[in-house]
Amino acid sequence: MDINKKTVKDIDLENKKVIMRADFNVPLDDNGNITDDTRIRAAIPTIKYILENKASLILMSHLGRPKGVVKEEMRLTPVGKRLSELLGIQVKKTDDCIGDDVKSQVSSLKSGEVLLLENLRFHKEETDNDEEFAKKLASFADIYVNDAFGTAHRAHASTVGIAKFIPAVSGFLLEKEIYFLNTILKNPERPFVVVLGGAKISTKMGVVTNLLEKVDSMLIGGGMIFTFLKSRGINIGKSILEPEKEVEAFEIFKKAKNEEKELIMPVDVIVADEISENAKTKTVDVNQIPDDMSGVDIGPKTIKLFKKKLQEAKTIIWNGPMGIFEIDKFAHGTEEIAKTVGSVKATTVVGGGDSVAAIMKFKLSDKITHISTGGGASLEFLEGKVLPGVEVLEDA
Ligand code: 3PG
Repeated sequence: MDINKKTVKDIDLENKKVIMRADFNVPLDDNGNITDDTRIRAAIPTIKYILENKASLILMSHLGRPKGVVKEEMRLTPVGKRLSELLGIQVKKTDDCIGDDVKSQVSSLKSGEVLLLENLRFHKEETDNDEEFAKKLASFADIYVNDAFGTAHRAHASTVGIAKFIPAVSGFLLEKEIYFLNTILKNPERPFVVVLGGAKISTKMGVVTNLLEKVDSMLIGGGMIFTFLKSRGINIGKSILEPEKEVEAFEIFKKAKNEEKELIMPVDVIVADEISENAKTKTVDVNQIPDDMSGVDIGPKTIKLFKKKLQEAKTIIWNGPMGIFEIDKFAHGTEEIAKTVGSVKATTVVGGGDSVAAIMKFKLSDKITHISTGGGASLEFLEGKVLPGVEVLEDA
């Protein structure tokens, strides 16, 4: 691992009990069916390695935000079923994640067998990083493995507290995620271009600030452009605005100028009279947004400009959609960026729920060098923050 943490390969697993934190926080439909199993698949290499090395495995995860109470629709039952299918063995599941019943199931677990604990967040002690709760989880095993990159930015009992009690190492997914993000941030092949989108500037400000000094060009799309535009006195009509971020947004322009970085904003946008498939839309230059309309996507001149920059790049990070892409009518900009990122000869890393969803929607996943399984976690990493779930692992 590039950040000098031990992995499952650095530890003897034979006849040991291993407890592994995974991020099985997967989307479910109204009938409880998993609509995207990427995160479960992503944990399989580590699971297989542990089982092949003759350990028994206890898996744990959260699902959703049940806030310390049992919510039937947030049980990990569908995850257990999917795991059984993917592994080709029966994955047993407990009804809770601590307690006597779990203890007895754990003690009868044999090497090569897998037991999935129930949703950790049915206990509020999990998100409180409660020491006693962490100790109970640790008591089930000899070794702790963290492979939950998507939750590595959370300092919870199963990601941080537990590491105090038993040897703690990384799984292959966590290792891979950190390797890609770290290598790119430290030593990108240039030109290094970052494309950022998404509705809210407040969730991306840290990333913009941290990455601006590292990139050659930063392309900004999505709803957050309107706060940037407004900060320069441009009328944005009814477009989304975070007024409390205007000053910071203006500072970003100054920083880019001072550091001679290319900060590229859209030159045209698609505006709509309402946020719906039935909306009336038109394309306008950014300084001609009508008072009664809102910006919903980047325009054709912007797409052309962004594409040119992406085609010249040797390294690309993309995080966040270019418009309200859940509505087909406003998805064109995001689609074009996804297709371009999927077609260029560059190292490409895509993170963030919506941009990853766009890559999946347009069936481009095999065209991307690395798709991150972490939304918030990848953002915090790109902000330059140390992820607590990584920090607590044993140094190599
Ligand atoms: C995610 O989906 O980003 C992770 O599973 C973390 O979930 P959380 O934001 O509820 O902590």
